[in-house]
Amino acid sequence: MLDTPKGYRNQDPRMPTDPRLQAVEHFYDFHPISARQIFDAVAARGIAREQITEEVLQLHDQDHYGGTAAVDRLMAQAQVVAADQVLDLCSGLGGPARYLAWKTGCRVTGLDLTASRVEGATELTRAAGLSDRVHFEQGNALALPFADASFTLAISQEAFAHIPDKPRLVAGIARVLRPDGRLVFSDILHRGALAADDARRLFDGMRFSEIATEVDYRRWLRDAGLSMVQVIDLSDEWTRILVERHAMYRSLQAQTVARLGQAHFDRYDQAYEHFVGLYRSGVLTGALFHAQHPA
Ligand SMILES: C[S@@+](CC[C@H](N)C(=O)[O-])C[C@H]1O[C@@H](n2cnc3c(N)ncnc32)[C@H](O)[C@@H]1O
Repeated sequence: MLDTPKGYRNQDPRMPTDPRLQAVEHFYDFHPISARQIFDAVAARGIAREQITEEVLQLHDQDHYGGTAAVDRLMAQAQVVAADQVLDLCSGLGGPARYLAWKTGCRVTGLDLTASRVEGATELTRAAGLSDRVHFEQGNALALPFADASFTLAISQEAFAHIPDKPRLVAGIARVLRPDGRLVFSDILHRGALAADDARRLFDGMRFSEIATEVDYRRWLRDAGLSMVQVIDLSDEWTRILVERHAMYRSLQAQTVARLGQAHFDRYDQAYEHFVGLYRSGVLTGALFHAQHPA
């Protein structure tokens, strides 16, 4: 049974009807990190709206593990250049997209399922003065609204775990990559033995669906016609980061309770504890994948 308010359903006919994706969208509508919370945090540093730059936002707007250092690694792996046309899949509030464009001069299109994320990303990007190079669209990564061969690089961080039917996801990405295009993404994985009860709790608490293994991704990427360049194991790094992120979430209890209520705080806290426990015990892992479209 999905934990969404009675009758909750996105009415946009272009959006997915799969209740698992509807539940993801609802989850991010009520996520503790939001554009408003970021603007408030910036204001609390004594920085006015008109003084906002990418450098100001980057302390607050990266919703993946490892902040801008992780984006730096991804950028180095992908060898991003100014001429790149980048697709950021599941772009959230747009932190990585802005950082990439700001650091390299490339153009980035962010795609995200959740309307409130797209609105927030657009507002933050306008505030940082990057709207000429970075823009966001609402859409489902399982039905990419782009022409074949539109991008030289596709990236994503810690988001594919939300998406069921990953073979379809990977095939769609291969379709929109140009010849020689690269796909560089990180994702939450399991080591091959995820108990049904843990999988159910990961969906109930974090909205993760059909979590993959490294072997699964190797097969799906090959089936989509992409060749593997490198896989970097991130398990130890993520375990340490997740313990810290959970502590940070708890340190924001007062603000979260004020905005979303005690029950919401407690539910997420318990789900996070279970999630971090699966990293500590080695059931879950994580990796950065680099694959390439044929020339
Ligand atoms: C953990 S956040 C990552 C945000 C961003 N990549 C970052 O690092 O800051 C996951 C994002 O994936 C998006 N998402 C989940 N399923 C999606 C789908 N099927 N299509 C597009 N976006 C999706 C969610 O709306 C959410 O914004």
